[in-house]
Amino acid sequence: MKDAVLPRPSRRRVEADHPPYDVTAVAAVLERWAGTPGNLLPVLHDVQAALGHVPPGCVAQIARALNRSRAEVHGVISFYHDFRRQPAGRHVLKVCQAESCQATGGRALTARLEQLLGCGLGETSADGAVTLEAVYCLGNCACSPAMMLDGRLFGRVTEAAAERLLAEARQDA
Ligand code: FES
Repeated sequence: MKDAVLPRPSRRRVEADHPPYDVTAVAAVLERWAGTPGNLLPVLHDVQAALGHVPPGCVAQIARALNRSRAEVHGVISFYHDFRRQPAGRHVLKVCQAESCQATGGRALTARLEQLLGCGLGETSADGAVTLEAVYCLGNCACSPAMMLDGRLFGRVTEAAAERLLAEARQDA
């Protein structure tokens, strides 16, 4: 039997599959870091700072500008948990998944947060209020389990305290 020959997606088609994004903002970031060695990570951080996430459609633009393959750029984005591929909710809640927090109830805390938000790690609640993210040590191991809400660090977080904080965050829509 002959091997099936699958059609190769054209470059235009692959890029068109992604939602539109601010090409000019990405171009400005690329210009700022042009010619700097090791610029892929800072470019991705700045794109996320400018747009709130790293849109999948900009992978090709970044790869072309930095003379890298799209697979390479995509690999870096997916390797680092900090890079978001979709816009975050109005609040970002990072819950620590590293050893000390795991040993002090982090797993149960995470499960409770997922239950309260109705979404898993790396996802946003249906009302768009909170994005729940995993983080691997917040430098607050002595006060495990730890989490961070919109950049504010919390330690020795009980499920009740987490519930209270979430309720407050969801109020300011
Ligand atoms: S292990 Fe959670 S803050 Fe360090």
